[in-house]
Amino acid sequence: MSDVFFVGCGPGDPELITVKAKKLIQKADIVVYSGSLIPEPILKLCKKGKLYDAAKLVREEIFDLLYKNAKKDKLVVRLHDGDPSIYGAIKEQIDNLEKKGIESVVVPGVTAFLASAAALGTQLTLPGITQTIIVTRAESRTKVPKREKISELAKHKATLIFYLSVHLVNDLVKEALAGGYKKSTPVAIVYRASWKDQKIVKGTLNDIAKKIKEEGVTKTAIVIISNVIDSTTYEYSKLYDKKFSHGYRKAKLN
Ligand SMILES: C[S@@+](CC[C@H](N)C(=O)[O-])C[C@H]1O[C@@H](n2cnc3c(N)ncnc32)[C@H](O)[C@@H]1O
Repeated sequence: MSDVFFVGCGPGDPELITVKAKKLIQKADIVVYSGSLIPEPILKLCKKGKLYDAAKLVREEIFDLLYKNAKKDKLVVRLHDGDPSIYGAIKEQIDNLEKKGIESVVVPGVTAFLASAAALGTQLTLPGITQTIIVTRAESRTKVPKREKISELAKHKATLIFYLSVHLVNDLVKEALAGGYKKSTPVAIVYRASWKDQKIVKGTLNDIAKKIKEEGVTKTAIVIISNVIDSTTYEYSKLYDKKFSHGYRKAKLN
């Protein structure tokens, strides 16, 4: 019996894969991958193995593929876009394998919100603005606990990041305003971050819904609501302040 590897392959740019993930895909006997968000050049790394598109399979078929092949001592890779732990449904797969005596190993990847921040050239926390990042999603068929209502999360005025929600942008705006954000709060949408057809749409809570509609973005995007976007009012970091001493440097007082 072999372990099963749950591997994140990054947000889209094939060069944003880890060395570990690349080696595993190259050596794999079986790769079960998460549909259209896995770029072709990454699937091509799998030279000798057999590829299965998980988008065409139901849960039980995926469980079966992973289990039967691991039992035969095959190198099994369950390939996820971004990072497997972010909206990746890995827990149910790991638990099912564990019940049958098979161990899992998780290999992290660059998740879409980090690729989106990179595309925007922004820092997600800024002194004087916010030191907190909230990663969430709007409610649709998957229920979100009541205490995590967007209007409640918005009260923190932290950097709000949404997966799986761009098609519900009207709800995001309504809830963010209900939570106390001003209409002028900046919003950025990154569609297919790090892919060749990446698109950035920027606006405010006042006009972002209209802009997204005009651009026709309905999926595969990260929505960021935050005053860190294009901020001009942040404070400089303490770490590099000449008056600040720390373990590696004394303050330079003149
Ligand atoms: C099921 S979740 C999987 C997330 C993935 N595990 C990750 O860590 O990025 C799919 C959602 O991730 C976001 N997403 C995935 N790849 C993206 C990309 N390259 N650019 C923007 N958003 C992306 C979209 O919100 C999409 O609806």
